[in-house]
Amino acid sequence: MRRYLRALLLCMVFAVFSGFYFYSKLFYSDSLERGVGTKRIFVPPREPGARQGAADKTGTGTQTSPPLSLRYIMRQQSHAESTGEPPMHLAVVACGSRLEETLTMVKSAVLFSIKRLCVHIFAEDQLHASFMEALESWPDLVRTRFNYTLYSISFPSENAAEWKKLFKPCASQRLFLPLILKGVDSVVYVDSDILFLQPMDRLWSFLSHFNSTQLAAMAPEHEEPRIAWYNRFARHPYYGRTGINSGVMLMNMTRMRNTFFKNDMTSVGLRWEELLMPLLQKYKLNITWGDQDLLNIIFHYNPEFILEFPCQWNYRPDHCIYGSNCASAEEEGVYILHGNRGVFHDGKQPAFRAVYEAIRKYSFGTDPVSGLLDPLEEQLLKTTHTYCGKSHPLFTKRLVHSMANINNMAVGG
Ligand SMILES: *[C@@H]1O[C@H](CO)[C@@H](O)[C@H](O)[C@H]1NC(C)=O
Ligand SMILES: *[C@@H]1O[C@H](CO)[C@@H](O)[C@H](O)[C@H]1NC(C)=O
Ligand SMILES: *[C@@H]1O[C@H](CO)[C@@H](O)[C@H](O)[C@H]1NC(C)=O
Ligand SMILES: *[C@@H]1O[C@H](CO)[C@@H](O)[C@H](O)[C@H]1NC(C)=O
Repeated sequence: MRRYLRALLLCMVFAVFSGFYFYSKLFYSDSLERGVGTKRIFVPPREPGARQGAADKTGTGTQTSPPLSLRYIMRQQSHAESTGEPPMHLAVVACGSRLEETLTMVKSAVLFSIKRLCVHIFAEDQLHASFMEALESWPDLVRTRFNYTLYSISFPSENAAEWKKLFKPCASQRLFLPLILKGVDSVVYVDSDILFLQPMDRLWSFLSHFNSTQLAAMAPEHEEPRIAWYNRFARHPYYGRTGINSGVMLMNMTRMRNTFFKNDMTSVGLRWEELLMPLLQKYKLNITWGDQDLLNIIFHYNPEFILEFPCQWNYRPDHCIYGSNCASAEEEGVYILHGNRGVFHDGKQPAFRAVYEAIRKYSFGTDPVSGLLDPLEEQLLKTTHTYCGKSHPLFTKRLVHSMANINNMAVGG
């Protein structure tokens, strides 16, 4: 008897919902014919983990959301409009004076990428309004290619103070991404001082090349052991021959959350969230580069979890200041430029700065050749007296390919 009742109930619920769906579909197709403006009302549900305060600032407060029925249909609609594939996720942490640099990074990601992007920006609260103001001012055509969520910086409460003071303010936030972005399967984490010179899609596609044990991908810290840092100075274990650089980090967070990591503290494997604090306690007097060192220690004991990608995906001044030592970039150009130690802003590496300035100044919608490439080449030609300047063709090679995608965007493709 109970079973029949339950079945009846289920049928009724189903009937009500399908009626509702049919009705709202009718209603929606009607409103669609009158204009495309409706799409912009769509306010998707918040990412889990977004802090209340941050979410309110992004204007996704529930009071402005359309009714649930409409939201569902609209989601179908916007999904069909994109390539139909799930979006890529990009995360960055921005603190202090990194606002403009972070916006320039996001700009480079959005400019060249093909699939839709979900950008997760972790920033100090006082920066949230400026981020929103800047991102909301980007043209509609650009806005349809990505969405974003702003988050406050947060740490596990017991040790918040200790985490915050580790390395640069906020940098260790990236270690907690798998725990904060619980609903997200995979993410590309980048430092704010990087620039995409080609679609992020190609980096994203490494995920599908992971073998059954790999859960993160990074580039080696160095190609050349004689000038590398970890093998000469580190007072802790590190990954591989020269360590890994965590400025560009591709993570399958589903795997990171589900895996037990071997370590030198206990004989049993520990979960990601159990691993971090004991590791910090053990090594805090010996680490120099903060959370990157912790990652190196973790993957020293678990090398089979890492897919190493070539240095062209994380090209730093170290790859050219002592002569060119990144073979993959020599062959195919620089894919991601990493202006660490502030070289996008000071005069020490004019070639790096020239690329940064060219992307920063490019305005959406203008011709990419006259608006981006020409001014960049002009600046780069002035820098050929430096080692990095001499390798400037590596900086533009990939960019030229990627510009085809900006053209697509300009004609609304
Ligand atoms: C961004 O878009 C994706 C689908 O493309 C959606 O799942 C997500 O909730 C959106 N996030 C925000 C903050 O709008
Ligand atoms: C990440 O790993 C999980 C578990 O192995 C898998 O189901 C998922 O498809 C992977 N994500 C991507 C983007 O490959
Ligand atoms: C820290 O460095 C010192 C000096 O090199 C070394 O003796 C010590 O074992 C290191 N500590 C750990 C936990 O590796
Ligand atoms: C996956 O590749 C890594 C090399 O990056 C290797 O160490 C590991 O053994 C591989 N895993 C499997 C299951 O083949």
